[in-house]
Amino acid sequence: MRVLVVGGGGREHTLVWKMSTSSLVDEIFCAPGNGGTAEIASNIDIKAENTGALIHFAKKEKIDLTVIGPEGPLVNGIINAFKAEGLTIFGPSKNAAMIEGSKVYAKLLMDRVKIPQAAFQHFLTAEKATEYLKEQNYPLVIKASGLAAGKGVIIVHSQDEANKIVQDIMVNNRFGKAGKTIIVEEFLRGEEVSLLVLSDGETVLPFVSSQDHKQAYDDDKGPNTGGMGAYAPAPILDETQTGKVIDTIIMPILDGLKKEGVNYQGVLYAGLIITDDGPKVLEFNCRFGDPEIQAILPLLKSDLAEALLVTTHGELKHAKFEWSEKSAVCVVLASGGYPDTYEKGKEITGLEKLKGRADVVVFHAGTRKDGQRTITAGGRVLGVTGVGKDLKEAIEVSYSAIGNIAFNDMHYRKDIGQKGLKRNRL
Ligand code: AMP
Ligand code: GLY
Repeated sequence: MRVLVVGGGGREHTLVWKMSTSSLVDEIFCAPGNGGTAEIASNIDIKAENTGALIHFAKKEKIDLTVIGPEGPLVNGIINAFKAEGLTIFGPSKNAAMIEGSKVYAKLLMDRVKIPQAAFQHFLTAEKATEYLKEQNYPLVIKASGLAAGKGVIIVHSQDEANKIVQDIMVNNRFGKAGKTIIVEEFLRGEEVSLLVLSDGETVLPFVSSQDHKQAYDDDKGPNTGGMGAYAPAPILDETQTGKVIDTIIMPILDGLKKEGVNYQGVLYAGLIITDDGPKVLEFNCRFGDPEIQAILPLLKSDLAEALLVTTHGELKHAKFEWSEKSAVCVVLASGGYPDTYEKGKEITGLEKLKGRADVVVFHAGTRKDGQRTITAGGRVLGVTGVGKDLKEAIEVSYSAIGNIAFNDMHYRKDIGQKGLKRNRL
């Protein structure tokens, strides 16, 4: 089978890495890819947004399966465009991807099918939102409804602050079109956890649970990022809890979508918060979580390419996942300054020392090759995943591996996995 993976981050390197071990896969292309995918696949210089060029490539190269990494192309309908050309592609259709593309759509849908979530109101004008903000208790959460590259969620602590954010989003267009509609919602307290499942519209197949670390600095301090590290499985959502979430959240949302004429095929990512009243949904994503997938896939013993292929054929009921009993911890090494401004172009050293290690995989995100050298090319640069017999050992493996790697102004969190360890001790 000839496979095309679309995207160029840590998620895509992880997908390429896993599929490269499949006996079904003969050749892998990655568009545009990064310094890591260049070592195990052929990087193709086409941007993830360039649907026309990707279709042309898939036809010319007789690609048997295309897998889309990022949400942007999914929300813009790349799946529909490929299918219209008779090409096999993994991911949700444009209508189904709205679950991530429009937070208002997702929240109203969750209301209709009675999924536990934060209470909310949505607004189309700054005047109406400002009026509403007068009567509220704080903190509250303000969200741009559309895609805002992970930056569209702001927690506000006073009416003053809330008014400024509303002005910024709705009048100064901080997030462009994505902020035309905003949501103001209840601030929920609890620990967050991610549950990803494959869905072919009929059957779901869960991945092990995982926990992201969104804030830039230790102890969940600092600004939100795309994710600074993750571990799997997350003790807060064990197998029994996962089953409950599937019964009370995942199946109802998929059934609700189906009743409204939307067949969800692809990966569905539920971003959950475990409150005193049980799990509630913070958001749904229509794609693999990054860095979560960098901790999940090193634990998967089964063939991912096969599972994705049967999903596209609506035959997921024939697939099963077999998991390692171990734990995995992925620590993201970022450029100093990320998620704000940072410099690129720094040489990364030490990667060769980790090659061939069975318990460590270094996934590339913002990197590029310059001859033999590997150079930083983004905010999140590498994800260093360590696998161990339990979470404690996985943390040790990952952090001791990091000791080999260096680049100027490298920044990473030192506490990835600690919440899980604490829970294990409870
Ligand atoms: P989202 O993109 O909607 O998942 O939001 C990004 C992050 O903002 C989440 O991972 C949470 O850390 C935080 N967040 C979002 N909504 C809420 C909420 N209602 N209460 C507390 N924190 C929230
Ligand atoms: N790690 C968060 C996300 O992929 O959205």
